[in-house]
Amino acid sequence: MLGSSFYLLATAVAFSSSVLAFPGKDKHSFQAPGDGDVRSPCPGLNALANHGYLPRDGKNITIPIMMDAALKGYNIQPEVILLAARVSLMTSTYAWDAFSLEDIRLHGNVEHDASLSRMDEALGSNWEFNEDIYTTLANSNPGVDYYNASSAGEVQRLRLEQSLRDNNATHNTLSELTIRTRESSLYLAVMGDPTTGEAPKEYVDIFFREDRLPIEEGWKRSEVPINNDLIHAIEKVILKTSQWPGPVEGQCAWVRTSPGDDLDTVGPS
Ligand SMILES: *[C@@H]1O[C@H](CO)[C@@H](O)[C@H](O)[C@H]1NC(C)=O
Ligand SMILES: *[C@@H]1O[C@H](CO)[C@@H](O)[C@H](O)[C@H]1NC(C)=O
Ligand SMILES: *[C@@H]1O[C@H](CO)[C@@H](O)[C@H](O)[C@H]1NC(C)=O
Repeated sequence: MLGSSFYLLATAVAFSSSVLAFPGKDKHSFQAPGDGDVRSPCPGLNALANHGYLPRDGKNITIPIMMDAALKGYNIQPEVILLAARVSLMTSTYAWDAFSLEDIRLHGNVEHDASLSRMDEALGSNWEFNEDIYTTLANSNPGVDYYNASSAGEVQRLRLEQSLRDNNATHNTLSELTIRTRESSLYLAVMGDPTTGEAPKEYVDIFFREDRLPIEEGWKRSEVPINNDLIHAIEKVILKTSQWPGPVEGQCAWVRTSPGDDLDTVGPS
């Protein structure tokens, strides 16, 4: 009797210590993409796939799947990303209601020049992480261990300046400004505190460099729902500090509306 309950206790201890030894070994633990899995220019979506909130193969993503993943993974409310998700559907090569993370590499849809971590499409891979490009962000807000909305705006300013200098095909209109500013506000809100717009550099760097949620390092999903009010407050500061110089002369806001080679676009003329 004593023997068997001791055995049970020992088993329970062994079981719980094996759980403790492998924290996060659940269906949302990190797993790098394998053969046949596809990834995108967006670290936020890639991380959701690497943690199993999106399909790990990066395929067959519908609007409900994406809204659910963003909510469960980051506490992002649908209102913040619904438009981007709907626009992304136009990149799909195989369905009306689903896209893959590979589809959204399409330049001129959601993907844009002067990215924080990818090369411009005309200059190289527009979807793989690039440490040289990321240097601007990595060196920002010196002297403290966090990034914030004004450093994010400054990074946008510097990256655009670099892109305008190095790439004569750079597309820079209100549509890119809007997307880039939303993305900057999101890395701050998701990796940091959405009410202050401050995010630890360590977390943001892991997020961009590894497409990984820095759970082992202490990151936690925001308890505060990330909604439009909070995002707009962060964006306001980013927009101001990014000192956007206005569109490239003669360029109109555009959205590429199909994955073909043609430049089938819509926008005000
Ligand atoms: C899933 O996506 C792939 C393309 O990425 C497509 O070929 C396949 O038909 C899709 N499957 C379903 C069930 O929609
Ligand atoms: C961001 O951090 C820097 C460095 O501490 C600080 O000077 C700046 O005022 C901060 N910006 C905001 C919006 O808090
Ligand atoms: C843009 O740059 C490329 C490569 O440097 C060059 O071949 C091309 O002629 C340039 N186009 C314009 C319009 O200046």
